[in-house]
Amino acid sequence: MILGKLEGWSLGKHGVITEEGKRGTKSVGPNMTSCHPSYGRKDLLVDCCPPGFQSPLPFVDFQFPDPQSPLRIRRPAHAVDVDYISKYDKALSIMKSLPHHDPRSFSRQANLHCLFCTGAYDQQNSNAPLSIHRTWLFFPWHRMMIYFHERILGSLIGDETFALPYWAWDIPQGMVIPDMYTNNSSSFYHTMRDVSHLPPQTADLNYVSDTNLIPEDQIDINLAFMYNQMVSGARKTELFMGCTYKAGKEGYCNGPGTIELAPHNALHTWIGSSLNPGREDMGKFYSAAKDPIFYAHHANIDRLWEVWREAHKQQLDIKDPDWLDSFFYFYDENLRLVRVKVGDVVDTIKLGYSYEQVHRPWLNMRPKPSYPPKLARQMLKTKEKNKLEMLSRTLVSSSELDTHVRALDASLTVKVRNHWRKKEKEEEKVIVVHGIEVKGDAYVKFDVYVNLIDQFKISPKFREFAGTFAHIPDGGAGKKKIDLKLG
Ligand code: C2O
Repeated sequence: MILGKLEGWSLGKHGVITEEGKRGTKSVGPNMTSCHPSYGRKDLLVDCCPPGFQSPLPFVDFQFPDPQSPLRIRRPAHAVDVDYISKYDKALSIMKSLPHHDPRSFSRQANLHCLFCTGAYDQQNSNAPLSIHRTWLFFPWHRMMIYFHERILGSLIGDETFALPYWAWDIPQGMVIPDMYTNNSSSFYHTMRDVSHLPPQTADLNYVSDTNLIPEDQIDINLAFMYNQMVSGARKTELFMGCTYKAGKEGYCNGPGTIELAPHNALHTWIGSSLNPGREDMGKFYSAAKDPIFYAHHANIDRLWEVWREAHKQQLDIKDPDWLDSFFYFYDENLRLVRVKVGDVVDTIKLGYSYEQVHRPWLNMRPKPSYPPKLARQMLKTKEKNKLEMLSRTLVSSSELDTHVRALDASLTVKVRNHWRKKEKEEEKVIVVHGIEVKGDAYVKFDVYVNLIDQFKISPKFREFAGTFAHIPDGGAGKKKIDLKLG
């Protein structure tokens, strides 16, 4: 992997991206007749296109479900009862038995993810590929996908209260794969998983490779990590939601939000089977939705979007019409093709579902500095004076990084020049790593620390931790440089 520019940078006042101009003129949407085979891995061409995509199909515009119908309550998967499990099991087995030509079938549902995550469609009025990861479409697209999925499941068993479970990996009770997914006589069972990560193994929300931590320590680190990804690292819209992705080649961006990077990407990798080249199924996006746990994983991602929105009293919600008017098509439970806009899916109550609340211990888990601040300042000063260290090949300045790319094959210390003007002092500071280039097809991961003193005290448990980069290559054609922004 290559590291590009790194600099201090500050977002606008609230970090809310607004834009004057016409409604949604640069909004993104697929050209449904443009489906083509796409790369699931660098070395694997897949064809996830639905039958008959070549001719335009009639569709209806999205309508909210009847506000009188009962609210679907999504509950944590580790706490659901046997009745619920057998109900969901039945719905899912029916879905799995539907033929592929039925868009409600499990294979077609799984293919939806493959289509939009590998760039199988071009955008409307453009030959730019459409891909929803690592952008501000990440949360809304997955919300749409599981919304229709949930309603289809419910209709297959005639239950309009049916709701998906969520895998609450952000709280200690949920930090193992929920039992229902490991019962090999149920439809939730899936063989393509890393067997060493089955219960009772505690999930590593910032997974790189296996560690030997005892569960208590892993849980502590996970909670501190959640605090960073949800609270301290997510105080600006873009940091949480991902970059501003607009229509056409010029509108392209590649900058994931905190939760998408990890736990989202990290857990995809953690679950997928280590015996498969891309840790399929969960470890690669073309295959991820074949594993039933995908839907509970994404229900939790969706829930955390709600938690974040509420924490900021909806003040950080994106107001850009280009985002609100970006649209996709999904089949609903009545086999109608529905065009749905991002703006339609911001409010879950209007969509007829909500989440059963759980206690969130990470909310108050602000990490402590690894050394008392006074001592830390002194130590940093001495470090700076120490010319020997300045000569070390692992120390570079950010201006050097502007012009010379660096391979990140060992830890790298970067002296960041200060761009901030006085009046911006009070504002949230953001670190941007521009132009990260990922070579090859492996899972790529690195953490970033600010003012690190002691190389041996590195953990999200310390306040010096600024965030992480976690990348699942999607095999997509062309070079895509990624921006990482950390708050
Ligand atoms: Cu579209 Cu969890 O990924």
